Amino acid sequence: MIYYDESGKIFLLSGKNYSYAMFVNKYGFLQHLHYGSKISESDAVWLAGRIGKAYQPDCEGNNTDLDIDNMPSECGFAYRGDFREPTVVTERADGASMSRYLYASHKISEGVFEPSGLPHARRGDKTLYVTLRDGFSDTEIVLYYTVSDDSDVLVRGSVIKNAGKTALKLKKAFSFCTELFAADWKLLKLEGNWVAERSPEITDLGHGVTKIQSLRGASSHQMNPFAALLRDGADEFSGECYGFQLIYSGSWAITAERNNINQLRIQGGVNDFGFCWKLGAGESFHTPQAALCYSSEGMGKLSREYADFIRERIMPPAHAFSTRPIVVNNWEATYFDFNNEKLFAIIDESAKLGIDTFVLDDGWFGVRDSDRSGLGDWVVNEKKLKGGLKAVIDRCKSKGMKFGLWFEPEMISPDSDLYRAHPDYAICKKGTTPVYGRNQLCLDLTRKEVRDCVVEAVSKVLRENEISYVKWDYNRDLADMYSESLPADGMGEFTHRYMLGAYDLFERITSAFPNILFEGCAGGGRRFDAGMLYYFPQIWTSDNTDAVERTRIQYGTSYCYPLSAMSCHVSVCPNHQTGRTVSFDTRGAVASLGSTGYELDISKLSEQEKQKVKKQVEDYKKISDLVLSGDLYRLCDPFAGDRFCEMLVSKDKSKAYIAGVLTSYLPRRNSSHLRIYGLDENKTYKITETGECVSGKVLAAAGIPFRELREYESFVYHIEEVKKK
Ligand code: DGJ
Repeated sequence: MIYYDESGKIFLLSGKNYSYAMFVNKYGFLQHLHYGSKISESDAVWLAGRIGKAYQPDCEGNNTDLDIDNMPSECGFAYRGDFREPTVVTERADGASMSRYLYASHKISEGVFEPSGLPHARRGDKTLYVTLRDGFSDTEIVLYYTVSDDSDVLVRGSVIKNAGKTALKLKKAFSFCTELFAADWKLLKLEGNWVAERSPEITDLGHGVTKIQSLRGASSHQMNPFAALLRDGADEFSGECYGFQLIYSGSWAITAERNNINQLRIQGGVNDFGFCWKLGAGESFHTPQAALCYSSEGMGKLSREYADFIRERIMPPAHAFSTRPIVVNNWEATYFDFNNEKLFAIIDESAKLGIDTFVLDDGWFGVRDSDRSGLGDWVVNEKKLKGGLKAVIDRCKSKGMKFGLWFEPEMISPDSDLYRAHPDYAICKKGTTPVYGRNQLCLDLTRKEVRDCVVEAVSKVLRENEISYVKWDYNRDLADMYSESLPADGMGEFTHRYMLGAYDLFERITSAFPNILFEGCAGGGRRFDAGMLYYFPQIWTSDNTDAVERTRIQYGTSYCYPLSAMSCHVSVCPNHQTGRTVSFDTRGAVASLGSTGYELDISKLSEQEKQKVKKQVEDYKKISDLVLSGDLYRLCDPFAGDRFCEMLVSKDKSKAYIAGVLTSYLPRRNSSHLRIYGLDENKTYKITETGECVSGKVLAAAGIPFRELREYESFVYHIEEVKKK
């Protein structure tokens, strides 16, 4: 719902449980009024009069013009009295960068705005477009806000236009800016590393600017493009929380600036470090979108809202809710060292156990027996695979299985035919030694001919073979930000243009093969973000497949992404990353909390383990609907103590699934109860594993003992409503 009060120039946007209000103050600034719980139209009018006036600057009289510094703003500007970090910065031909963006007009339209070449919210009820103008710099900014009655996510973005007659340099172009009033704010960010992605870290927000970012050309292992603000002691289950998530996969930044009257400006978008975009007369720049979310019921509710938003409005609709294949992937089973016999053995055994898709990972193409060569040569290596891909696909088909294939299309090995033919396709400034990552270079996707070459090579393989699944990998960060195709004063566009080029690749290839399920991957979770999920409905969550480590990685990832987005596999023990050994049951329990699969040599399992795989596959099929569309309740935080537990509940609360792990043995804490929040307190449920019938009320109020588990042991409960006769 979007309401506009003409007399006070007040905008009130309302979603399912939140409102967002702003007004045009008497000097023409678009001033922020409220973001939080739902308010009425008359409340918004009152707010404009009280809060609005209280924070309105005094731009009249002697030098009080500088008094804009405390004004809660929807778009910060540079050098004209707003001394906080700006949202948009332009520079004119004469070098002047000062600006003041004032309200010019607005309109309200049905549906969403689709930024050109960028992933975006696919649907929404209504969009408010507010046009701001600055006459001095001749900049026009259209801020847009998409609301939906059935969602707590507010989508924001902007279009920045050079409305003048001479070129402008756009030096900062954030996607959103909003302000929150004084409170005890805590910042939750998802920091990490390779094999340790997305660990929640909660810190105080002191005065000044707190910045989280990636400068790696990818959203990054190290910091996810997401921040949450927790108000006055809010936690998992209660209190007010705000989420800020970028629908973007390249270099990004989010800043939270607490000023000296404790107001908080939070904003974010494309990283402004080194960014400089030339805007010719009449040209526009579309920012990536940001998804803001409000919850008055703690982080748990915030995550459930984001999960619905991503499944319903971001992921490719044809795949978002369709049953995902249960895959077996040969990477940890064979690495580069495979042949027909080894693969056939995995396929044959997997088929017997009910696994539906075999995924052939790295090493099937060019000359690729290690990570030192072959990337770019997307032609099967028939010396390694006798009869080519067809032989493997035929084997899968003969066993009733489907086939998936690994690519790393954005990369090139210096030792490859592609490099020998087109060394200039690699990102590398002539005269320098390029920065290598995993012995490889990135392709210059800012160039159309390079993208065309990749599209053709990958499409040829997909056209000529029966492939139902693609794993799209990306194993290094971007460096040497330079392209021969850009003018000397255009290098500030490089990093964002790389991402636009990558999105162009994703769009062209995924739309040409709509029946293929494309899984994203980037050395595990280097690019786990809403931008990628627009093309890839699931992403390989981490290269760390240790079940205990995975409880933490998957827990952190679930703050803003649905479980179906996480590709989670059972692997062999001792685990290849950590050396830890945990039971097959625990590995299965953790991998069941996502799009599940196996990452080991099935043919080498004992008969008992094979039977466990068979049972896990059968059990997973019973709960896959919950993974695809259920609500997640994080019951125990593995970062906070000795245990992990998550529950998935169907929307109608008739069915649930719980998986828990004792992640470390701390004797005195092992007996406490697990309170089960999220079921219907008025319903009675049966726990299949124990045979108990119990009310949702007592499960929430008192809970169950966290069973007497030994270290690394786990449990799963399948829960069904007992219908009244
Ligand atoms: C990194 C991925 O995360 C792994 O799963 C595997 O596909 C390797 N790359 C292959 O090189």
